[in-house]
This record gives sequence, structure tokens and C-alpha cells, in this order.
Amino acid sequence: MLSLRDFTVIRGGSKIVRDVNLDFEEGKIQIILGSNGSGKSTLAQGIMGIFPTDGHIFMDGEDISSLKVDERARRGITLAFQEPARFEGITVKDYLLISSREKKLGEVEDALRMVGLPRTMLFQEMDDSLSGGERKRIELASVLLMKPRFAILDEPDSGIDIISFKRIASAIKEMRNRGTGVILITHAEEMISLGDVASILCNGRVVVTGKPADVRRLFTKTPCPIREVR
Ligand SMILES: Nc1ncnc2c1ncn2[C@@H]1O[C@H](COP(=O)(O)OP(=O)(O)OP(=O)(O)O)[C@@H](O)[C@H]1O
Ligand SMILES: [Mg+2]
Repeated sequence: MLSLRDFTVIRGGSKIVRDVNLDFEEGKIQIILGSNGSGKSTLAQGIMGIFPTDGHIFMDGEDISSLKVDERARRGITLAFQEPARFEGITVKDYLLISSREKKLGEVEDALRMVGLPRTMLFQEMDDSLSGGERKRIELASVLLMKPRFAILDEPDSGIDIISFKRIASAIKEMRNRGTGVILITHAEEMISLGDVASILCNGRVVVTGKPADVRRLFTKTPCPIREVR
């Protein structure tokens, strides 16, 4: 269990995410909804330890608030960024082998297949020659290979075409089946319906948590009821 208690994330000196209280369970998908600028990516990066935070983050009851990014990664927390990084001079194969626990090429090929990319992509470089959608799918393949305890996926469906969308959805379901707790930031209806529970983030605060279908309906009507200045 990963638990946020009065969790606040500070960026550029401002409290962008405030007093969040949420519990993430392994083998469950928690959806985070929120308008542009509501603080979703900031929350994701705060959990990963990229920005300074206030309040607490507990993993199995232990306060991990003071742990650095790499230490959190070693405990099994992974973040797939909204905008995945480019790496010059490293091939897709090398990048994915780093994530593969068993360092087996067969496992890497399986992960690539699961996100719907051809085997030939293994030899391509992780630079600008990849499209945005390809980079997102490779990032997801790397999360599959890591088999983390908790995976934070920041809009894994953005920039993904309709045909590939279903594959991405099944890859995320597969993560849950393997026991990963998925924190899924998304706006896509089909993705929301994968969730076990959903929350709305509004001006950096969690304003509602409930069944994904109900929360989605509420979000469509009133995306952000709090209008206060941060
Ligand atoms: N250094 C900073 N100083 C002040 N405000 C910042 C800073 N960095 C980001 N922000 C603000 O924090 C807010 C939350 O940004 P964030 O990227 O977390 O939103 P988001 O919910 O992920 O949006 P999107 O749906 O567009 O991805 C935005 O209003 C942004 O302008
Ligand atoms: Mg974002």
C-alpha cells in the first residue's frame, strides 16, 4: 500500500498540489482526472520524489518522504512521464534491456509486442527519429519490464492512435494482473472504465473519490468546483 497523507507538492516556490490524502493498492488501478493545470503531473512527480513535498508518503506504513528518486525507484515506484525523454546514442533494445529484470531479449520482445510495436524498432535510436506515440509506447513497455510495485502513468494514451489504443489499455490491465498498483492519469473514457477507483484533482486538491463511472459523469458536468487561487 502506498499512502499519501496531507501530501503537498511545491514547485517554483508555490504549493501546486495541496493536502492530498489517497491510498494506492497493489493490483488496483486508481484513476486521476483533472483539467489542464490542475496539478496531475505535479502530483505524479511529487510521488516519485522529483519535487519538494510537505506532508507524508507511506509505503507499507514506512514514511518514505525523505527518500530520493533513485531510492524510491529501488523500492518499486516507477513513473512514465507525460513527455518521455529522448536519449541520443542509445537504442530501443538497450533502453529496454536496462528495465528488464532478467536481461533477456525474449522478454524485451514480448513487452514490445504488448504495446504493439514491431521487433525492428529494437535497433532504432531513442532520439528524435521516434515519433511521440512510439516513445510513449516504448516507455510503457519499459514499465511492463520493470514489474514495479507501483506505476504512475501520466497520460499514457495521449498521442496514441485509435488502433493502438486497445493494446495500450490491455498492457495496463496486464500490469494490474501482475499485481502492480497503477496510478493512471487520463481523460480517455475507455481508460477511465479500466479503473477500480477514480479521483478528481481540482486546483491541486482532491475534491472527490469514488466509482470511475460516477466520478467521470461528475467531471464531465463540473470539472473543477473549487475556484480559489493557489
Ligand atoms: N515552476 C512553477 N511555478 C509556478 N507554477 C508552476 C510551475 N510549474 C508548473 N506550475 C503550474 O502548476 C500547475 C499544474 O501543472 P501540471 O503540469 O501539474 O498540470 P496537469 O494537471 O498535469 O496539466 P495537463 O493536463 O496540461 O498535463 C499549472 O497551472 C502550472 O502552470
Ligand atoms: Mg500533465
